[in-house]
Formats: sequence, structure tokens, C-alpha cells
Amino acid sequence: MIVTTKELFRHAYGQYALGAYNINNLEQTVGLFRGNLGKVAKNDESVKPALAAPFIIQISRGARSYTDKRFLEAMIRTAELVFFEAIFAVHLDHGTEEACYDSIDSGFYSSVMIDASHEPFEKNVEITRRVVERAHAKGVVVEAELGQLGGVEEDVVGSVCLTDPAQAAEFVEKTACDSLAVAIGTSHGAYKFAGSQSLRLDRLAEIQNALPKGYPLVMHGSSSVPKEWVDRINAAGGKMKNTSGVREDQYLPAAKLGICKINIDTDGRLVWCATYRESFRDKPEDFDPRTPGKPFMAEYAKYIAHKNQMLGSAGQLEAVRKSLGSKR
Ligand code: G3H
Ligand code: 13P
Ligand code: ZN
Repeated sequence: MIVTTKELFRHAYGQYALGAYNINNLEQTVGLFRGNLGKVAKNDESVKPALAAPFIIQISRGARSYTDKRFLEAMIRTAELVFFEAIFAVHLDHGTEEACYDSIDSGFYSSVMIDASHEPFEKNVEITRRVVERAHAKGVVVEAELGQLGGVEEDVVGSVCLTDPAQAAEFVEKTACDSLAVAIGTSHGAYKFAGSQSLRLDRLAEIQNALPKGYPLVMHGSSSVPKEWVDRINAAGGKMKNTSGVREDQYLPAAKLGICKINIDTDGRLVWCATYRESFRDKPEDFDPRTPGKPFMAEYAKYIAHKNQMLGSAGQLEAVRKSLGSKR
């Protein structure tokens, strides 16, 4: 069942965070749905209540243009039928104004992100406000962003980039956006922290305090870039440099401070890269696309189930279903 992120956040706020996972293809989609239903054992088709989690599927502009964007919709609508127990939102990740309007008008996306964070404050407000008006008229909810995430391989996250709490309050009031992505020290990609830096939970607490009670916040660039997966990639011929990501034990403390959505793309790419490389390394005579695809889907499902345990969303599916029933 496709729901809005707003409905999911209402249940999660202050308790746990929803995993927001990017997909581009069929194998990622199947692994993602299986993982979120706890279908992680081989040939196991029963939902595991202790692992089952509500979640958010993210579609980036790159994913939309990888093939024809209509394939993504068809794939997800089919997954909704096959994995009929799942509860999830379909979200446009890092949208431009044009991509937001296209997604809103499609009637498929339940949530869009307008990313005008690179614009000056007033321009960001103006663009976000326009998108919010058009989205709300169609029952679609909007995530906006204020502040700038650190660049890849940046070793110090300058305080100028972090979200300013007073500005966040003004931005939310002026735009009426439904959730806000904040910059609290993370960055996109596999190379996040060069030293001992980690999340700026102190800044997050200030932002939470400045906003209306219960206002949902979003954290981008939240992959943990596990050493285990980087090592597997390198052992199978990869050449990834020393990396580090967001510590998984920081997800729940962030959730307690109002982070309801935690964006994870890079980790899924690592799982994909390691399993495909291992398959080609171990079966050099094989040229069937299904040979690497099968272990990938199984490993990705397991990885998602693990991630949801760290986010606290594992085991929440039935509680969310109940909460939706009384409000929808
Ligand atoms: O934040 C960006 C996401 O990781 C999506 O990446 O634009 O390469 O699909 P992409
Ligand atoms: P990662 O690169 O840390 O996975 O972040 C993904 C993201 O923020 C997507 O919007
Ligand atoms: Zn992002």
C-alpha cells in the first residue's frame, strides 16, 4: 500500500526513523521489498513480524532517466501487488521544480523533495512555496532542504554549511513544507568523514527545539559505508579507498531528536558491487545475468532487514497499519 511520508512520520516521530532507500532496477526493488518484509531466508515467503518495516522508496532524477521513468512506476506497482503486505511511500529524491511538477502530476509519487538548498534563502523559500502549493492541491507531501551537505572527501564540515535553527523555523513557517532535510554533518557518497567527525547531534537538538513540536526532519547522506562491504569489493578486484560513513549507532539518537527519514543509497550500491564482483570472480565461465542477480537480491534483502533494525523501524509494520486504519 502506497502512503504519504507524512502518514509514516506521524507514527515514527521521536521513536524510530524510516529507511529511505534509492532504487534503479528490478533486482534492487525485489531485494528491498523482501528485506522490508523480513523475507530474508532462502525461499522463505512468510512475513517476519519482528523484522517487517514500513519504508520509503526513493527515486532520483538519475534513476528516472536511466531508462524510461515509466519502467520504475510499472516495477513498483507490480511489487505492490506481489508484496501486498508492504506499506511504503514513493518519493522523488532531490527534485528540481520541473521534476517535482512532473512527479506530482503523474499521480504515482506520494511525496516529492524540492532541493533548492543551493539557492539563497529567499529564493529557496519562493521555489519551495510554489512546489508545496501545487503538491498539496493533489494530496502529495513535500520535503525541502535547508543548509548544505558536505562535499565528498571534505575533511572538515564548515559550520557555514550546517542548517541554522532560527532560519529553519522561518523557512518552515514561510513554505509550509511537510518535512525538512537538515545539514548536520553528513555528506553524500562513500567518503564522508576523513577524521573523527560524526553527526552534529547538538545542532540537531537546537533545530528540533526551534521548530513546532513533532515537526519531521530528514537526514541525507546517511549510509554507514560498512568496512565489511568495502573489503569484499576490494577482495573481488575493486579499488575503493579508505572510507567511513555515519555510525549506525547514531541513527536512533538522531531519531529521538526528530529525524524521521534516513536516506541510504550508497550502502545499497556497495552490496550490489560486492555481490556482482564476487559472482564474476567465482564463476568466470558464467555469463547469465541471473547468476549475480540472485545473490544480490538475497544479500540486499538481508542488508535492508539489518538496517531497519538499526533504524528502529523493524517490527513496526503492523503498528503502522493499525495507526493508518484509524486515520485514513
Ligand atoms: O543523493 C543522491 C542519491 O544518492 C541518488 O544518486 O543521483 O546518482 O541516483 P543518483
Ligand atoms: P548516501 O550517499 O549516504 O547513501 O545518501 C543518500 C541520499 O542522501 C539520497 O538522497
Ligand atoms: Zn540526498
